Amino acid sequence: MTKLYGDVVLIAGASSGMGKAIADALAKDGYKVYGTSRKSQEGTVDNLPIINNTNGFIQMIKLDVCSDESVMAAVDLVKQKEGRIDILINCAGFALAGAVEDTTHEEAFQEFNTNFFGVHRMCRAVAPIMRESGIGLIINISSTAGLISVPYQSFYSASKYALEAMTEALRIELQPFGIRVALVEPGDTKTGFTNSRVFAKESQNSIYKATFDKSVARMVKDEQGGPPPDGIVNVVKKIINSSNPPVRIVVGPINKILAFLKRILPSRLVVYIVAKLYA
Ligand SMILES: NC(=O)c1ccc[n+]([C@@H]2O[C@H](COP(=O)([O-])OP(=O)(O)OC[C@H]3O[C@@H](n4cnc5c(N)ncnc54)[C@H](OP(=O)(O)O)[C@@H]3O)[C@@H](O)[C@H]2O)c1
Repeated sequence: MTKLYGDVVLIAGASSGMGKAIADALAKDGYKVYGTSRKSQEGTVDNLPIINNTNGFIQMIKLDVCSDESVMAAVDLVKQKEGRIDILINCAGFALAGAVEDTTHEEAFQEFNTNFFGVHRMCRAVAPIMRESGIGLIINISSTAGLISVPYQSFYSASKYALEAMTEALRIELQPFGIRVALVEPGDTKTGFTNSRVFAKESQNSIYKATFDKSVARMVKDEQGGPPPDGIVNVVKKIINSSNPPVRIVVGPINKILAFLKRILPSRLVVYIVAKLYA
């Protein structure tokens, strides 16, 4: 099958969940996949730790999206190895749970530093390389929480709302250079996301504790009862095979209905429904 954008893929956050599933699937399809993890060993161009040789080409490299130096080093490594990066998929992210009042500025910043500034760092580092080639594709993994704000996980939602805004603008800015940009909006999916959830420290002795605990229990149940990331893999493949991908693709029938309702219902009603579900 022809590879519309080329075959060199960089996936930020490929050690688990969606990123790992996308990496495995694209490697099977013959892409050269560079996946990243904060836990990977440091590598040099001639000495990259290969994790998966059997199902195609995947090389894991070390990356922390919260560090400018780490992002530059990882992107530079792939550039040196391949001479180009054709597709960037930003999956790295985590959820911060806590009432707005219980969340410190530092905790909120850490959430944004990964989910929003991390994607910004990746895009800034990779866009010049794609511009040199005159073609490229960037896929940012957002969330339905980037369309509908969830109580007790507001800074996660805020980071994804911000990601949505930046990605829409980036799409317009990169379009003249032949670089396409798209958003994927998954709903609850069974991945490592639930175990990686960070809790605002003040949540433990909070006035909100009873509702907060119930709300988080619901999130955990929905995520762990959710589908595996196969649907997300299919959507990513669809985007990769499209010369003019949609601005955003919501994944899953229930999430599509929610996104549609958010567009057509009065905000008061949307907030009422969300409160019924989570508060
Ligand atoms: N699961 C859901 O229900 C759900 C729903 C909607 C959207 N999403 C979004 O989907 C994306 C993927 O999440 P997932 O569900 O696949 O969760 P996951 O299984 O926990 O995977 C998260 C990935 O992000 C990486 N990561 C986290 N912080 C990082 C950092 N500072 N620098 C570099 N990599 C970092 C992790 O790698 P290391 O820890 O190895 O570094 C891991 O590979 C996230 O953006 C998430 O917000 C998830």
